Amino acid sequence: MKDVRTGTRSQWQRKRVFIRTYGCQMNVYDSDRMADVLRPLGYALSENPEQADLVVLNTCHIREKASEKVYSELGRLRDLKAERRRVGADLVIAVAGCVAQAEGEEIIRRQPAVDIVVGPQAYHRLPELLARAARATDARRADGRRRPGPGVLDTEFPAESKFDHLPAPSDVRAGSAFVSIQEGCDKFCTFCVVPYTRGAEYSRPATSILQEARALAAAGAIEITLLGQNVNAYHGEAPATAGSTWTLARLIRALAEIDGLARIRYTTSHPRDMDDDLIAAHGDVPQLMPYLHLPVQSGSDRVLEAMNRGHGRDHFRRLVDRLRHISPDIALSSDFIVGFPGESDADFDDTMRLVEEVGFASAFSFKYSRRPGTPGAALDDQVAESTKTARLAALQSLLGRQQRDFNASKIGATVPVLFAGAGRRPGQILGKSPWLQSVFVEGNADMIGRLATVRLLAAHPLSLAGEIATGGLPARAGGPFGVAA
Ligand code: 5AD
Ligand code: SF4
Repeated sequence: MKDVRTGTRSQWQRKRVFIRTYGCQMNVYDSDRMADVLRPLGYALSENPEQADLVVLNTCHIREKASEKVYSELGRLRDLKAERRRVGADLVIAVAGCVAQAEGEEIIRRQPAVDIVVGPQAYHRLPELLARAARATDARRADGRRRPGPGVLDTEFPAESKFDHLPAPSDVRAGSAFVSIQEGCDKFCTFCVVPYTRGAEYSRPATSILQEARALAAAGAIEITLLGQNVNAYHGEAPATAGSTWTLARLIRALAEIDGLARIRYTTSHPRDMDDDLIAAHGDVPQLMPYLHLPVQSGSDRVLEAMNRGHGRDHFRRLVDRLRHISPDIALSSDFIVGFPGESDADFDDTMRLVEEVGFASAFSFKYSRRPGTPGAALDDQVAESTKTARLAALQSLLGRQQRDFNASKIGATVPVLFAGAGRRPGQILGKSPWLQSVFVEGNADMIGRLATVRLLAAHPLSLAGEIATGGLPARAGGPFGVAA
């Protein structure tokens, strides 16, 4: 194939799209859906922007750093586009995701090379937006204008959900698939942009989720991860009973009946929405993996209140106790923010104590980032950057130690591992334990996408080394495991 920069590639050759994904798993899922929407238009995925006709940046607005990365990337793409135009070719630049939603036209003002700005609820309209962008470019050429623009913008929140418009996902990667079941958030934590960028809470009807999950299982999915910004707030329409709804636990119980689905996961949860049945499901649905990401953000009642989290530290402690009572080997993960406005040394100590008391298998922790438009940004007792840095270092050192201890505690166990891809070194393959730890073994590529029983031999800070114990499928793929060999 000739270099697209020469502009001589003929029309019948396939177009290429490069999608760069920032941020959360929701964005990873959305990027896949955008690829699905673009495929019928002739777009194949490209590995890099240099070989692409269309570049989509699927952006994240959650913290300031994530947003700023987008503008530096856009600067590089503008140069690439200018290079193309000098030789009579083109590069279409689209900005999607939460920065697109939050900043809208401001993006085109700051970077006029951008052709399309599309919010997370409008991806099904990408074909139309591309056509409009092409018309704008043609008009510009006919005018003899050399400068790019004006870009097209679509950041509407449609009355109905985008789930109704996107093509069904076809992609099962190495035995795993994501299913988006819930979008948006009504909780309005005072630090968070999600309710503004992703809109009001919406739960997808159970029937359409079950259909998708069955299709994914038929296409080879062994594991599904249910996705939502507030996944355990799920309350989608129940199948065939107008007016009634299903909880997440009810949905999980129905998904567990699907043949071939050995692993079910869900993310991200809120401590306020862990109802009794969901906790019970962790004990009696063998397919539900013994892992829970449950962001707590802070261990201080005062800070939790200021964050508008709607629960205190005791509520979280009780939840943990109940979960561990029902599922003793459950791995707990969480998110933490240090330096929320007004956080004192004593508040931070409360967070450290909570971490010590609970013991986490893994966690994400961040310095508070002031996000325009959120109530937290307007508070005047902002914490000094140096204090945030020191607190984050202390917290991460404790969480890192807990993660290493958790990994080490599994040495000697024989567990099912779902292999997802090649390892870093030749001859290695990499997969996930039930507790979502990365596990690498010596093994053949034909194991990828399959479950195998692995004996865990050594723990590294972020992964475990093991060896295939039987080479075959474990007797009960989802079952209670973690029994020491
Ligand atoms: N500053 C820092 N971290 C944030 N998060 C969300 N908003 C902010 C912010 N303004 C973190 C929370 C959330 C995770 C996805 O990102 O911990 O759980
Ligand atoms: Fe953001 Fe809070 Fe909603 Fe989570 S629950 S998405 S942190 S507003």
